[in-house]
Amino acid sequence: MSLLFSPMDLAGRTVRNRLWVAPMCQYSATDGVPNDWHHVHLAQFASGGAGVVIAEATAVVPEGRISPEDVGLWNDAQRDAWAPIVAAIRARGAMPGVQLAHAGRKASTWSPFTGQRGSVPVDAGGWQTVAPSAVAFDGFADPVALDVAGIDAVVEAFAAAAVRAVAAGFEMLELHAAHGYLLHQFLSPLSNLREDEYGGSLENRARLLLRVIDAVRAAAPDAILTVRLSATDWAEGGWDAAQTSTVVRWAAEHGAVFFDISSGGLVAHQQIVTGPGYQVHLAAEVRAAAGVAVGAVGEITTGPQAESVLAEGDADVILAGREWLRDPHFALRAATELGEPAAAPWPPQYVRARPRA
Ligand SMILES: Cc1cc2nc3c(=O)[nH]c(=O)nc-3n(C[C@H](O)[C@H](O)[C@H](O)COP(=O)(O)O)c2cc1C
Repeated sequence: MSLLFSPMDLAGRTVRNRLWVAPMCQYSATDGVPNDWHHVHLAQFASGGAGVVIAEATAVVPEGRISPEDVGLWNDAQRDAWAPIVAAIRARGAMPGVQLAHAGRKASTWSPFTGQRGSVPVDAGGWQTVAPSAVAFDGFADPVALDVAGIDAVVEAFAAAAVRAVAAGFEMLELHAAHGYLLHQFLSPLSNLREDEYGGSLENRARLLLRVIDAVRAAAPDAILTVRLSATDWAEGGWDAAQTSTVVRWAAEHGAVFFDISSGGLVAHQQIVTGPGYQVHLAAEVRAAAGVAVGAVGEITTGPQAESVLAEGDADVILAGREWLRDPHFALRAATELGEPAAAPWPPQYVRARPRA
């Protein structure tokens, strides 16, 4: 049997396979409340055989939304709207996960569907953004530097959102510390110019992430806690795989059990070269250096390609984004590509379509 379709033990719970759905913003909510679009969108991937379905970047406070149309978990109406969506994912055999997020200086931006770019002005439904330092992402509005009380409030907001996420039925909580959003902004020396206990040394830059991990652990002790990190800023003087590996080790000591290794997003001048499997080497480096379970993501689009990443020992899990959008039954197809169609969890309703081995 393939590695891709072998089950995985995570913090005492079993995930049915190692082909997961990466979080993907849908920019389709009103007041942070998920709706019918999110329900159909996420449930279809569970029918399509995913091991874990991770719901999109979900803001822990309103000002943490990337766009005004992002989903959230800062109030109980949002929690209650998530609950049937989460149940639909679980009913189809996948583990429901959610990415808890705060966009920091990259918040309050136009959704891609508007055709506009950059920051949404306050008088058009946007808001004042916050960041570790008052340094803007190129082309976006200036953020205000968080003071220590503001940092404490961010930690509490992550914990409160974690409680709501668990109440809604989510089993995996992924902290979004990648792609240039708030937790990554604290990690990277390119965006964190603070001179207090949250800036300067690696320990100080990692302090907020570790506090959030501690707070979420305490608030949701039974949830599977994972972290998505960018393993490099792809920019001179920025965040890199060595710093990532050190912080991942610390995060594991604080109770995170899995690390979803992505890259980039912090600065507009990043020099990123994409292509099939373009971030796999980063996952492999973190896995080897930190000795933790990691996921590889980025242009992994076929069963054999995914299987070879696992067989090489570069990652424990494959996450995919766009391939699930092209083919919501990606896992069913991947098993067929690997010559073992029955290894995928075909819904009984669809088995008549399953190819013979
Ligand atoms: C429509 C779309 C929305 C995305 N939204 C998020 C998000 O909410 N959080 C996140 O960490 N990454 C997000 N990403 C990045 C994906 O999770 C993934 O890392 C990236 O697309 C690379 O994987 P792929 O080549 O398999 O698509 C998004 C990507 C797409 C295409």
